[in-house]
Amino acid sequence: MRSQVYAEIDWEREQAGVAAIDDILRQVIRSPVRPQFSRFLAHFQRVQQFEVDQTGFSAMMLYFLYAVGVMSDAKRVVGIGLYAGISFCTLTAGARDANGDEVQGLGLDENPDHVAASRLNAHRSGLDNLIEFIAGPPRIALGAVKAPIDLFMLDVHHPVREKDDYLPLARQATPLMRPGSILLAHDACVPRWQGVIDELVGFLRGSGCYDGPWTLPVDSTGILVAVRR
Ligand SMILES: C[S@@+](CC[C@H](N)C(=O)[O-])C[C@H]1O[C@@H](n2cnc3c(N)ncnc32)[C@H](O)[C@@H]1O
Repeated sequence: MRSQVYAEIDWEREQAGVAAIDDILRQVIRSPVRPQFSRFLAHFQRVQQFEVDQTGFSAMMLYFLYAVGVMSDAKRVVGIGLYAGISFCTLTAGARDANGDEVQGLGLDENPDHVAASRLNAHRSGLDNLIEFIAGPPRIALGAVKAPIDLFMLDVHHPVREKDDYLPLARQATPLMRPGSILLAHDACVPRWQGVIDELVGFLRGSGCYDGPWTLPVDSTGILVAVRR
């Protein structure tokens, strides 16, 4: 991996943070399951081989996503906004380690180059048989989703619209999500996007369809978590 961001992590020193994430997720998701750290590490070592020139995902945020994948007991995982697929592959790797080949991932991105990079990295993660990638407007692809979604992650960032699509995409996904399913939105703590995040929080609270949301400062970017009622 060209980025140095994962080269410096010392997981032995970070075990208190890992345990804290497990504890928070046990409260939020109400799952008795604990991820096996050795299985996360096996995935993380694959991620370190990805060809990417940048990433907004810290190693600890990757652990968080992996743990959500395991603890949510998800089989149907949908991610919108892929770049090189680091976060989506990690989320899906957690689900795969919980539910094996029953897991079906759907990765959506407007940019065909980002879809191609994500596909390659899914291959490197041993996930290519579990994930379908679609390049194009996610609203159209989401419209074709029939079976309930168990785990849904938003991380779009358009050059012009930036994160304006968070709210419409969350609205569109809500009727597709089964009770107990999890919605994640990345960058919840970034001051630049507080307007968009506040709108999303307003919808999640006001709709009556979710428990939460909780804004979790796993790292400086943060992540929003809501559980579908
Ligand atoms: C911040 S990057 C995603 C990072 C990624 N989650 C990761 O693991 O590194 C934002 C991505 O959103 C995509 N994008 C922007 N607007 C979009 C939209 N409306 N629908 C789908 N993808 C979009 C961009 O092409 C880009 O790949």
